[in-house]
Amino acid sequence: MKVGLIGWRGMVGSVLMQRMVDENDFALIEPVYFTTSNPGAIAPSLGGKDGGTLQDAYSLDALKAMDTIISCQGGDYTTEIFPKLRAAGWSGYWIDAASTLRMEDDAVIVLDPVNSGLIECALDRGVKNYIGGNCTNSILLMGVGGLFREGLVEWVSSMTYQAASGGGANHMRELLKGMGVINAAVADELATPSSAILDIDRKVAATIRNDVPREFFGAPLAGGLIPWIDKQLDNGQSKEEWKGQAEVNKILGTEAVIPVDGLCVRIGAMRCHSLALTLKLNKDLPLEEIEAIIKSGNDWVKWVPNDREITVSELTPASITGGLQIGVGRVRKLNLGPQYLSAFVIGDQLLWGAAEPLRRMLRILLA
Ligand code: HSE
Repeated sequence: MKVGLIGWRGMVGSVLMQRMVDENDFALIEPVYFTTSNPGAIAPSLGGKDGGTLQDAYSLDALKAMDTIISCQGGDYTTEIFPKLRAAGWSGYWIDAASTLRMEDDAVIVLDPVNSGLIECALDRGVKNYIGGNCTNSILLMGVGGLFREGLVEWVSSMTYQAASGGGANHMRELLKGMGVINAAVADELATPSSAILDIDRKVAATIRNDVPREFFGAPLAGGLIPWIDKQLDNGQSKEEWKGQAEVNKILGTEAVIPVDGLCVRIGAMRCHSLALTLKLNKDLPLEEIEAIIKSGNDWVKWVPNDREITVSELTPASITGGLQIGVGRVRKLNLGPQYLSAFVIGDQLLWGAAEPLRRMLRILLA
């Protein structure tokens, strides 16, 4: 299979390439690397395969020669190229990390540990467009997909704590620069144990207001948070919040819509998105049964008992970042009633939230 790789050099693309190397995916494909900036240059040789030369990502002829294309190039590229490529008669498989095509009728949102049945049906029907989900939704469903699979969820309130990486590489750098600026402003006082904490705090507050960089986030993130992600919609939701219900239901292929809503908040983590969930179940089930169902969701669920010591060491970005496990903990019945459950779900947004579903879709095509 000739597989065109576009946007392989960016952050999501680089994580994808690394995962494909780790899983030996390159042994099964003929990779063709595309570029939007320097066609003709030497392509990388990943997974022991000579990549030849870089092809022009704007050349419809070069793209048309592919059986499958995987794009991590971003939404603008998809918007510009995809319709032209289809109009030119290309009927290969398009696998994309961008959100552009996600809600189209002829596209499936891929998260195969949760919706492999839907993917198989779509392949049988001849569907050619397979799009990765929004990171927060993929992590939500990887975490508590078992409860959805069993038809137990009446609704979900999903309050998110989203990492800087969701914005992109520049956003991660801006967060780190901000941390440095704050630290530098009070480095002398910190080195002096007798300095007054309220004096330090005053300086820190002024530094956050005035000096922490905000070019990419539009507000200071280091030492704070930003309670809005993505565009503003007319109904008061952010676009990120809107995606929750729309995408979760599309991924699951639900007939009756399961309400999903909540506030999405940017926090100063690097690449782990977290969600504090309130789930209303349609049954009062014992906690042991709920635990067994959540654990049975998929092989990547990392169940964290609702115990202080284990939670603070294992249900954190420090513990989860860089790996494929999805932490699920803080599960308990809420005072609201026996059918109301809390859960805290955390995952690396560059892995299950972006790259991993794409390479797994490629594997499904290759099977
Ligand atoms: N929109 C997400 C975020 C990342 O900003 O965190 C991409 O799914």
